[in-house]
Amino acid sequence: MDALLAVRARGVTKCFGEVVALDGVDLAVARGRIHGLVGPNGAGKTTLLGLLLGLAAADRGSLEILGTPVGRTPAAPEGVAGFVDGPGLYPSLTARQNLAALAALRGRAADRAADRAGVADALDQVGLVDVADDRVGGFSLGMRQRLGLAAALLSRPRLLVLDEPANGLDPAGKRHVHGVLHRLAAQGTAVVLSSHRMDDLEALCSEVTILATGRVAFSGPLRELAAGDRELDYRLLTSDPAAARRTAAGTPGVRLLDPDPAGPPPDAERLVLRARVPALDVLVSRLVGDGVAVRELAPVVSPLEAAFLALTEQQQRPQPEGARR
Ligand SMILES: Nc1ncnc2c1ncn2[C@@H]1O[C@H](COP(=O)(O)OP(=O)(O)O)[C@@H](O)[C@H]1O
Ligand SMILES: [Mg+2]
Repeated sequence: MDALLAVRARGVTKCFGEVVALDGVDLAVARGRIHGLVGPNGAGKTTLLGLLLGLAAADRGSLEILGTPVGRTPAAPEGVAGFVDGPGLYPSLTARQNLAALAALRGRAADRAADRAGVADALDQVGLVDVADDRVGGFSLGMRQRLGLAAALLSRPRLLVLDEPANGLDPAGKRHVHGVLHRLAAQGTAVVLSSHRMDDLEALCSEVTILATGRVAFSGPLRELAAGDRELDYRLLTSDPAAARRTAAGTPGVRLLDPDPAGPPPDAERLVLRARVPALDVLVSRLVGDGVAVRELAPVVSPLEAAFLALTEQQQRPQPEGARR
């Protein structure tokens, strides 16, 4: 069974002085899966990904990468590629030169033609062919992220580790990155990537681990996270807001909320309600029975985002003043 796992972490703990960045983390990622690591800033995502890349070692617990136990001295495990905190690139070289330099560093310079083809293919996969001969110093964050992914592809990893790869990506960039990751997964590569936003991961991952202050708050399939009859906040637009407000106030299980002070400017026409689905059903039938047309009824945040917020909101770690990253 474990032979099929690309990552197996048990009770992994990592401290920086007083800060417990990871606290007894368990993680299992099968080969061929795209696994999302999600959590607020400071949750421990970068720290965990750094352990997978061998940039640091855990203080306690055990970690197996591609079936091989990782020791207590930091060392890059065989078959793993990726980056944390942005890819390391030479700004004065072009995209193509950066990849060629990496390919040469990996010791296959004997086969220049194969390297050139590999570089061209990697640039094509991430959609950077048009800017291949431009200097990286002028690249946007999204372009650097894509070039970092291309660099990781050169080594044909069996485990790919990406820290916040969606940062700075425009829609076209996102399409390329998603395409690359789905293709890799289909070929059996495991991908572990992080984001501080649940919606980044919804289109990409079938399973996620939610970290909150260094602990696993949830790990499993996305559909399990979205399931469950939770109270959610909904926006309701009807043909008669005053009548809808009265009916909502009189419907058991439905609470009218004040507009979120951090949300978009309040809209007198739209009510914000908190309810479970059965109570919402009652409200809608009552409104329709009263001749009030329901024009829009939608959750304020997606059920997945709501589950994520509920699991992470209670336990935010205060960030020390002037803290890194
Ligand atoms: N090298 C480090 N030195 C000191 N503290 C660190 C270091 N790396 C991470 N931390 C602390 O560990 C916690 C987790 O950080 P990090 O893994 O970067 O979180 P995330 O990537 O989820 O935002 C934070 O409180 C952070 O300040
Ligand atoms: Mg981070």
